[in-house]
Amino acid sequence: MSIEIPVGLTELLQGYTVEVLRQKPPDLVEFAVQYFTRLRDTRSQDGSGAASAAKTGGKGVMFDGEPMQTESNGDEDDEDDDSDFEPPPPSRFNRRVSVCAEAFNPDDDEEDSEPRVVHPKTDGQRCRLQEACKDILLFKALDQEQFSEVLDAMFEVLVQPQEHVIDQGDDGDNFYVIERGVYDIEVQKDGVGCCVGQYDNKGSFGELALMYNNPRAATIIAKEEGALWGLDRATFRRLIVKNNAKKRRMYEIFIESVPLLKSLELSERMKIVDVLGVKSFQDGERIIMQSDMADCFYIVESGEVKIMMKSKTKADRQDNAEVEIARCSRGQYFGELALVTNKPRAASAYAIGDVKCLMIDVQAFERLLGPCKEIMKRNIAHYEEQLVALFGSSADLRD
Ligand code: CMP
Repeated sequence: MSIEIPVGLTELLQGYTVEVLRQKPPDLVEFAVQYFTRLRDTRSQDGSGAASAAKTGGKGVMFDGEPMQTESNGDEDDEDDDSDFEPPPPSRFNRRVSVCAEAFNPDDDEEDSEPRVVHPKTDGQRCRLQEACKDILLFKALDQEQFSEVLDAMFEVLVQPQEHVIDQGDDGDNFYVIERGVYDIEVQKDGVGCCVGQYDNKGSFGELALMYNNPRAATIIAKEEGALWGLDRATFRRLIVKNNAKKRRMYEIFIESVPLLKSLELSERMKIVDVLGVKSFQDGERIIMQSDMADCFYIVESGEVKIMMKSKTKADRQDNAEVEIARCSRGQYFGELALVTNKPRAASAYAIGDVKCLMIDVQAFERLLGPCKEIMKRNIAHYEEQLVALFGSSADLRD
């Protein structure tokens, strides 16, 4: 099932919304009945359908980074004048449409005609860029050709301490990949900026405004001198957002079947698909290592993963032996504990046979999996019981 917005729906609802805002009716349902009845009557008089109405000009609201407005602004007296109540031929259809329609319409090739952006780079710059981009989850679904196009389009940005790379509320211009530097993430709560996280010399930010056509959701402040690689909005949308639509088609059924994510709304699950990366591992390959700092969370898409912990018995400790404590198969997750507790990895994970995992980075985990955190916290008690059964004592797993 893919989310496709029927032609004309956005404009239909925008038109209705505009009339509600202009007329402030006491009963929205009653008003809707009148409004849509008139719309239908007008349509049957002139023989046009919603889709063709959508192509004509007229009143409408722009949800495209511009202030909300109607084309009736200024000239007309809108106050409580029922004669002014026209069925709305909606906004210009050939411009970028609503947030959702724009973000998830893979077949819309409006931006395919835009010229390819190329910022020439020295060999040294290209090397540094490739290194910075190698673990960026959003790039993991691109094919080789698309990835090179992204690399060609990226440009170097040097930043100074305290520089605001992004300000919350602004329109989105670029997506950024971190080459070096520490960056605070601040989100306004009750008018005060609260630090909700930090990027430490790796990762990326600035995708949300470009993906969903929203204002910037956070302020990003450089804590020290740093270097970033920017990717312009048009290239990001043409390559990454289009790929996301394919990703949604590929993963939506699987993601809906993951028990952990059942409590989320469909739209929340789709946002997870938008930011996830996919990585394959070979038999025996270590996926995460005990004691490492954590920056990712994993869901097994195929194959099996073995969770191993360094044994606590004296003899085993000497030769560093590991004991299997759990296995995860399709739909199950691992690597969440360290993100929930802010501690290093409590165990290692290895692929059994060929394994494919979906990966979500720590910032997206924080942002999108908040409602699932309680379920994950409940697991801690279960893990502790398991360790007591295996080793006679539990590790200190809590934060
Ligand atoms: P965007 O909204 O385009 O610009 C600010 C960026 O901060 C946002 O995209 C995300 O990439 C990043 N970010 C990291 N953590 C958060 C968070 N908790 N809430 C919102 N944005 C966040």
